Amino acid sequence: MQQLANYHKEHKDRYLEELMDWLRIPSVSADPAFKKDVVKAAEFLKKKLVKAGLDNVSINPTKGHPIVYGEKIIDKKLPTVLVYGHYDVQPPDPLDLWESGPFEPVVKKTKKHPKGAIFARGACDDKGQVYMHVKAFEAMMKNKALPCNVKYMIEGEEEVGSVNLEAFCKKNKKKLACDVILISDTSIIDNKTPSITTGLRGMTYVEVEVTGANRDLHSGVYGGAVANPINVLSKMIATLQDKKNKITIPGFYDDVEVVSRKERKAMNEAPFSINAYKRELKIKEVHGEDKYTTLERTSIRPTLDVNGMWGGYIGEGAKTVLPSKAFAKISMRLVPNQDPDKITKLFSDYFKSIAPPSVRVKVTPHHGGHPVVTPTNSIEYKAAHLAMKETFKKDPIPQRSGGSIPIVALFEKVLGVKSVLMGFGLNTDDIHSPNEHYGLFNFYKGIETIPFYFHYYTELKKK
Ligand code: BES
Ligand code: MN
Ligand code: MN
Repeated sequence: MQQLANYHKEHKDRYLEELMDWLRIPSVSADPAFKKDVVKAAEFLKKKLVKAGLDNVSINPTKGHPIVYGEKIIDKKLPTVLVYGHYDVQPPDPLDLWESGPFEPVVKKTKKHPKGAIFARGACDDKGQVYMHVKAFEAMMKNKALPCNVKYMIEGEEEVGSVNLEAFCKKNKKKLACDVILISDTSIIDNKTPSITTGLRGMTYVEVEVTGANRDLHSGVYGGAVANPINVLSKMIATLQDKKNKITIPGFYDDVEVVSRKERKAMNEAPFSINAYKRELKIKEVHGEDKYTTLERTSIRPTLDVNGMWGGYIGEGAKTVLPSKAFAKISMRLVPNQDPDKITKLFSDYFKSIAPPSVRVKVTPHHGGHPVVTPTNSIEYKAAHLAMKETFKKDPIPQRSGGSIPIVALFEKVLGVKSVLMGFGLNTDDIHSPNEHYGLFNFYKGIETIPFYFHYYTELKKK
């Protein structure tokens, strides 16, 4: 491993420059205007994977954005690790809140990242983390240190729900056969406190449309006599949570797994400062479901959030109008054993039932996904533990995350393979927000840790 360390040292500036080049390609999956850039980002990745020494590297078209695949099979008798990640990014909006261009990466020092962080959309989620795998693989190849077989499947639609990946997995079951799936698309507690993600929330995402009159009206002539759909929608949304911030949809909590006292206690022993949390977010007080801590609210409890709401006049100055329509995008984060389809139906039925007769309501489901919890007594997990312990010089802590990667549950269902969530970001890296960044410490720590994962996983499998 000393050889690898030397190699990293010699090439570390180039690693970073290459990542910056990749970040300059605006691979926004949600917006069709960026379709060509998404393909460009896939081609960039393909080129780097080939150069690093991967075989059979291909760009696989789908109905949406392409999936990049490549492999290195050194001995069929050895275990196979499949690395999954995504090269698509969230839209950069709102643009005016970025201190530098979202696709013009720069390195700046921050309080959390005194050694510098790279600022760009996708720096942490997930191009920066995928690129650690590319460079770790390159280093293992160049130093003849690859201990097992590897496969890479990097998709371009994670941020829009991985809609075409399930079909790809079903069609390519044999090609994707592996013993474990390794994913770096999550966070650690902080740079001195390594952790391994042992759970992800599921999700259901819906768009609602509330219609009043057949057209926009003068709010003086008609106001007070015809329902205002924005007023109505606000009221409806307000009733979805009660005074104790419990979700009021009948049956919503029916299947929620009850986490044992013991597990909750362990969960709350993880290093966490509520004061630092509030200070960092510039909030006076936290908010959430009664009788649960912040760590619990963001991991083992389901949520309902409005992601955006619009309608009527939002231009300059004032326009008096009684709008015809109001809209909202609403997401619900789910925990074991909630079923996304069932929850979507419960939401839809209830939301329609609480609408007054003066409006019409339409509910359109978007993507969804099942929650996951991963074991901590498996070889897959132990290998991650040993790898992080090696490079952080500290035992990593298992922690369930509040985020979602819907495809992880599908991997288990379709491929029958469990995933290990060994991510290196920080929750404060502003993913999906303006000024997303990724610490140089984290980037290099990931590159250093990944080969240890391959090493320990192969060793543990031999036993
Ligand atoms: N990498 C994130 C998920 C994540 C972030 C997990 C931080 C744990 C910690 C992923 O790219 C993501 O943003 N997922 C979406 C879901 C998807 C269906 C749009 C999410 O969680 O909102
Ligand atoms: Mn991600
Ligand atoms: Mn994301």
